[in-house]
Amino acid sequence: MCGIFSYVGKKEALPILVDGLSSLEYRGYDSSGVYVVGSNCVKSVGAVENLRKKLDGKENTFSGTSGIAHLRWATHGEPTEKNAHPHSDCSGKFWVVHNGIIENYKELKEHLISLGHIFKSDTDTEVVPHLLEEHFKRENDFEKAVKQTLKDIKGTYGLVIAFKDEKNKIITCRMGAPVVVGVGVGEMFVASDPSPILRHTRQVIYLRDGEIATLTPENYNICSLDSTPIARDPEMIEWEVDQIKKDGYDHFMMKEIMEASDVIKNTTRGRLIPENGLVKLGGLEIVADKLKDINRIIIVGCGTAYYSGVVGEYMIEEYTGIPVEVEVGSEFRYRKPLIDKNTMLLAISQSGETADTLEAIREAKRKGALAIGIVNTVGSTIARETDAGIYNHAGPEIGVASTKAFISQITALAMLTVFLGRQREMSMVTGKRICEEIISLPEKMEKILSQKEEIKKLAEKYSIYRDFLYLGRKYNYAIAYEGALKLKEVSYIHAEGCGAGEMKHGPLAMIDENFPTLAIAPSDSVYEKMISNIQEIKARKGKVLAIATDGDERIKELADDVIYIPKTLEMLTPILSVIPLQLFAYYMAVSKGLNVDRPRNLAKSVTVE
Ligand code: M6R
Repeated sequence: MCGIFSYVGKKEALPILVDGLSSLEYRGYDSSGVYVVGSNCVKSVGAVENLRKKLDGKENTFSGTSGIAHLRWATHGEPTEKNAHPHSDCSGKFWVVHNGIIENYKELKEHLISLGHIFKSDTDTEVVPHLLEEHFKRENDFEKAVKQTLKDIKGTYGLVIAFKDEKNKIITCRMGAPVVVGVGVGEMFVASDPSPILRHTRQVIYLRDGEIATLTPENYNICSLDSTPIARDPEMIEWEVDQIKKDGYDHFMMKEIMEASDVIKNTTRGRLIPENGLVKLGGLEIVADKLKDINRIIIVGCGTAYYSGVVGEYMIEEYTGIPVEVEVGSEFRYRKPLIDKNTMLLAISQSGETADTLEAIREAKRKGALAIGIVNTVGSTIARETDAGIYNHAGPEIGVASTKAFISQITALAMLTVFLGRQREMSMVTGKRICEEIISLPEKMEKILSQKEEIKKLAEKYSIYRDFLYLGRKYNYAIAYEGALKLKEVSYIHAEGCGAGEMKHGPLAMIDENFPTLAIAPSDSVYEKMISNIQEIKARKGKVLAIATDGDERIKELADDVIYIPKTLEMLTPILSVIPLQLFAYYMAVSKGLNVDRPRNLAKSVTVE
């Protein structure tokens, strides 16, 4: 999730652009950059503060009344200055900022290089200015060159394009990534969301997919890719800046839970090939041959990332036959793990900076293991220190409680399962089945998210209790622990995760009418066992809130309350079953009036032991 901000008007553009970037920083950043049209460009790694320092005393070299600016959250290429936006063509005439992913950039880049273009960055975005340069040679018209370029690219984009020879014009277009145009008096703005625009104007236009807007200080013209004009009046923004950052939700945690279906789409985009039952993971290409010889996998993570690893263990062992162990980083680093060159260490981390996970990687590498990562933050230390990996593409996660990253981690693990399985005995039919089922998940996810009001009511009903047991089995064993962790960390209520089969070995002693259980009991291969556990709890007067599969009438007779989730492949149920638990924890915390996004004593990224 990058942030774009642009301006065309009559004032000096530089201070407007830099301030705009500052108010977008909550979207995450690893570098930033500004181009003032026809004047100068500056880029810097890290926060906008670094960009300001670089500009200090040099502001007068950036004279001009239009410009484009960008905060980068890396997807392709390390977070370095050369990869920071804006990017330009060989002639330095076309400048581009981009939010999204150009899926066919490799082919386009090869073609452009064969035509003599010289690339300065490792980004997917840089193909855009070079394509503009090519098309302009034939069209000799800025707008036509933009339309031809858009025909060449596949993927998602929110783009703003500037042309050195037309200083009073910027062009923006949208396909799958947000673009908002701010309509002022004698000035226009473009941003990824209205928050940086509000201080200038409350009149905005939300561009739709496939639309192009040409902006000058006095006018905006919107058309479709095939040049059909589109009439659109600006609308008035009523929200305040803080609400906009959270997409209108009260907390980032809620916003991030509600992104779940988009997260699955973003994590899988361009990676599933259902027709051949295959998964394409570009980040693993360089180690693909080595992966064929792997005969043991150790998954390492902490907290939520560890629980996603446990789901991964079950998937990979069932579908690939490779033995898998899962361990928390803090244990792995201090014992004497048995590792050889055919062992693969798989590190899972949202931040890519967790100290214990990082040390586990270093230890495994010292012992000769291949280390790969499932990491959300591009260019993070774990991403750099692993030999290869899969990026989550979940966008920045701001709430301390990990929600959307977990969804994306399990999705990535399911893809890795198909990838490794198809290198071995997995049939094309099985690969196809898993791919198709993953593709159907976003729609199923929406169905669960639409029940949030009912889940809120349940949370209110259960908010009188001080202790909870979370039960799950097989694929949902780890979800019981993850659900309990979510409740603990945001609501400070005591919650115990428990493998359902272990309940009788101790935890059952705690159960009485004041100790409710959340039982994850989808209609899968261990359903009957879960039903027995629920009966045992009911026999001891325990209350049960069950997560069950659509259409399961039987569980209604047993449980006090039921939240339904759609049917999916057993290995994929955790992706769906965890959502009601995330929402339940969220609403429990809200009912206690707690700071959901910043729970006491916790940090988003644990970079010390
Ligand atoms: O950034 P990481 O995924 O490596 O973080 C690991 C844990 O610190 C993290 O998942 C933590 O448990 C979350 N706060 C749980 O919601």
